[in-house]
Amino acid sequence: MTLSLSFFGDGAVHDHDSLGDRDMGTPAPTRAREGAPETVHVTIDGQQVTVEEGTSVMRAAAICGVDIPKLCATDSLDPFGSCRLCIVEIDGRKGTPASCTTPVAPGMEITTQSPKLQRLRRGVMELYISDHPLDCLTCAANGDCELQDMAGAVGLRDVRYGYAGDNHLAMEKDTSNPYFTFDSSKCIVCSRCVRACEQVQGTFALTIEGRGFGSRVAAGANGNFFDSECVSCGACVQACPTATLTENTIIEMGQPRRTVLTTCAYCGVGCSFKAELQGETVVRMTPYKNGGANEGHSCVKGRFAWGYASHPDRMLEPMIREHITDDWQIVSWDEAINHAATKLKDIQARHGQGAIGGITSSRCTNEEVFVVQKMIRTAFGNNNVDTCARVCHSPTGFGLSQAFGTSAGTQDFKSVELADVILLIGANPTDAHPVFASRMKKRLREGAQIVVIDPRRIDLVRSPHVQAAHHLQLRPGTNVAIVNALAHVIVTDDLVNHRFVQERCDPAEFAQWAAFVSQQENSPETLEQFTGVPAAEVRAAARLYATGGNGAIYYGLGVTEHSQGSTMVMGMANLALATGNLGRDGVGVNPLRGQNNVQGSCDMGSFPHELPGYRHVSDTTTRETFEAFWGHSIQAEPGLRIPNMFDAAIEGHFKGLFVQGEDIAQSDPNTVHVMHALTSMELVIVQDLFINETAKVAHVFFPGTSFLEKDGTFTNAERRINRVRPAMRPRNGKQEWQVVAELAAALGAPMHYDNAGQIMDEIAALTPTFAGVSFAKLDEVGSVQWPCNEAHPLGTPIMHEGTFVRGLGRFTPTPYMPTDEKSTRRFPLLLTTGRILSQYNVGAQTRRTSNVQWHGEDLLEIHPHDAEERGIRDGDEVTLASRVGATTLHARITDRMAQGVVYTTFHYPVSGANVVTTEHSDWATNCPEYKVTAVQVSPGRSAATVEIDHPEHRLGALVRMANQIARQMAADTNLDAVPATATHIAKFWERDMRADLVAAIDGGTVTLDDIVVQAMQRLAVPA
Ligand code: SF4
Ligand code: SF4
Ligand code: SF4
Ligand code: FES
Repeated sequence: MTLSLSFFGDGAVHDHDSLGDRDMGTPAPTRAREGAPETVHVTIDGQQVTVEEGTSVMRAAAICGVDIPKLCATDSLDPFGSCRLCIVEIDGRKGTPASCTTPVAPGMEITTQSPKLQRLRRGVMELYISDHPLDCLTCAANGDCELQDMAGAVGLRDVRYGYAGDNHLAMEKDTSNPYFTFDSSKCIVCSRCVRACEQVQGTFALTIEGRGFGSRVAAGANGNFFDSECVSCGACVQACPTATLTENTIIEMGQPRRTVLTTCAYCGVGCSFKAELQGETVVRMTPYKNGGANEGHSCVKGRFAWGYASHPDRMLEPMIREHITDDWQIVSWDEAINHAATKLKDIQARHGQGAIGGITSSRCTNEEVFVVQKMIRTAFGNNNVDTCARVCHSPTGFGLSQAFGTSAGTQDFKSVELADVILLIGANPTDAHPVFASRMKKRLREGAQIVVIDPRRIDLVRSPHVQAAHHLQLRPGTNVAIVNALAHVIVTDDLVNHRFVQERCDPAEFAQWAAFVSQQENSPETLEQFTGVPAAEVRAAARLYATGGNGAIYYGLGVTEHSQGSTMVMGMANLALATGNLGRDGVGVNPLRGQNNVQGSCDMGSFPHELPGYRHVSDTTTRETFEAFWGHSIQAEPGLRIPNMFDAAIEGHFKGLFVQGEDIAQSDPNTVHVMHALTSMELVIVQDLFINETAKVAHVFFPGTSFLEKDGTFTNAERRINRVRPAMRPRNGKQEWQVVAELAAALGAPMHYDNAGQIMDEIAALTPTFAGVSFAKLDEVGSVQWPCNEAHPLGTPIMHEGTFVRGLGRFTPTPYMPTDEKSTRRFPLLLTTGRILSQYNVGAQTRRTSNVQWHGEDLLEIHPHDAEERGIRDGDEVTLASRVGATTLHARITDRMAQGVVYTTFHYPVSGANVVTTEHSDWATNCPEYKVTAVQVSPGRSAATVEIDHPEHRLGALVRMANQIARQMAADTNLDAVPATATHIAKFWERDMRADLVAAIDGGTVTLDDIVVQAMQRLAVPA
């Protein structure tokens, strides 16, 4: 490799060795984590070296600094032994064995360089080069090509066979994938790409077709990458030793000149990446081999979908306006900050100290979140801070803390490699946590079993080389019934790990819980009427989990986003406690966090009742510690949660909101209600990259920084604190924490930080689980998993070893209470929602990349029977209506869903799936019940009649639907100014027709098309 010099954001120069990036040729031998490995002594070119048993000769040579030429081997893949370039001589052995496939043996004496080896290697290289275009100087991989390097390494000077014979030089390029090109003329058929797709990604999209000289790499039956099973993870591109598979950015811009190690800002896996740059322009994001979470793998989002950071839609200047109907006015940072501070103070003077608050973002760094909650508690003088985690994983925090004493998952990702039975509940990792899914699939290929509990037939139920032992396809909203049924079998079949329960748990609580789940009402047979899952299947799944070896639970928002989300989290914890599946590798209860820093934003004190480190604001000692450090008093009463802030705004006594990097108008449930709340406030301040749906009703806009500009840390789903290093200067001129610090100062509560590292120092000083964390430590060791303190200076990969954080594990009875959201004659179907691989959350980033080629709109998945009953064909436009709103989508007919259940994603504002989700929420945390909404689906848009319970809902729904229909009409007529049209209509409703509309619709149903057409006529918008 010739990309030899690179540097971190700190300016220090590193080469590949110091980045830990060197290719050792073959993977390290696998072994259990515990116990000392057996070692073997060998001699390589006269040097003695001691290595682990099972190490290849190639790797042993690399360990003592000898690089044996190679082409088909790389240390992320099992050795293959096809190119024969890595041959060596071994004393006492015949021939020249391949060093990549030969394991070391005690006392081996190995020679890697000799005239004979050189001659043979040159012969091999000659054959390769005779069928390879000699365009090195103009090739995109020039300087980063292993074939080129190997030609030099073996001293090839001439090719005796000439270039006139049969060859593949005229083969056409496959440019179907938006991010990389496949140039078959440069392929040496080393199979690294095929093996990477199988072993690293687990997708099996590639094959080698044909035989001998005719063998070529093929992607799927249709012959191109885009139409194949390929999920664009980039593993094949990374594995390819030639320019055959090359990133389009490299083809267009050339090789990078410097590297900054940083962390992906999409999902909670938290993959480490090398941002590879020319100046301040990113030319490639390469997954970092030593990244603790991803170990060199990536998905299409982190690897390729980073172009949004330089998208022209990005807002780079602060803006203010008096009313949301006014145009934005660009102002200086000082003016924007002073304007915001003046307005906030004025609101508090008129409406009281509690009339303002803020929402932190799980997209931002720990440091950025920390300063926002600090600003609210000190400068705002209240605890009205909440976070977007409220709408995703707040039940995780509550439930796990009740059971184990800590609000976080129990394992590191690596732990899955030792799981024997995986219970996957309400999570779809191949779409939402792809890099972890690859790890999970690898373990399944090795023989572990999986039980999928999900209303939808996700890929992990059945896909190449994956077949779930059981798919418990439950009705949405019946998770707790299923977990109780599983527990019933474990207790009544006496599959309880009594020793674990006796040693680690509260015996009285266990007895109470066991008596509860043993009741006949919790048997799989009784609960089948609610869950729809055959009792025999539940019994078999329970026995497998309890007796199949290491049992590991992984779950997602399909658990938490329910009215019984917290109950379900405790129910899963009960299962793990009863079976003793806690406190070691391969087991545990593991939330798959949605956003990149959900864990961190919760850790940083984003909830209204908790200071950083999950310590209650009512605790005097904790409060005094913070007060002494911050020099401000802190209120002892918890503040308002997000839903309370919205309700208070509508009631008229909550008037100002600071929204950090979160599009609540699109991502929170019942968007009509949210918009009503936002438009009822006097001041909405949005700090974000784009004018999102929330910013459209804001009064102050602070431009934010992308992850490529941020300096700080993210904490992923396994509690791993990863550095986010700036690859470039903030394009808006300021780090986000600086803006917040300046706003706090303008409000009279200054903060004194010169850099983000000082914020982490303050976090460490105030938060016992972070006590050992500093930027210097992270730079030194890469990453740590909290708790990281004096007792665990390098962090804690596995929690609750020996004892639980709370002492004894707590069993909690979990009665099943059916949700109030029930299907009815009017709304006979149940809607559940989720994500798709290529898009992310509300799509603000991914919609601004070529990922739209895979998912250009949200679709409604509907069972063939339900579709037929309604006269809906695949691709038809349909209206999806609930009792709070309606939206229009295109139908996809699929039996992935059970009959009676429909599914959609929520990545596009135009479809606004959350228009239909209701106000039901988790009893303990208010996490919205996104996953269960009673709906009706009817063909066509014209059927969109509004039947809504509350006049304000009706009005809001109309605004929203008017927006949507206007956009659709504008799109249909190729009108450029789509957003402007929609915004005009929204304003029009608000200003001119509000009273008329409320009166008009009060009496009965209203056909939207009529209203919209009328509005468009009055606005002179072409229909
Ligand atoms: S990009 Fe990933 S999924 Fe696609 S062929 Fe390559 S390795 Fe397979
Ligand atoms: S595309 Fe690259 S990795 Fe795949 S066989 Fe060809 S040269 Fe090897
Ligand atoms: S799995 Fe998540 S963190 Fe990793 S690259 Fe993909 S989006 Fe980024
Ligand atoms: S590198 Fe060993 S045979 Fe190819």
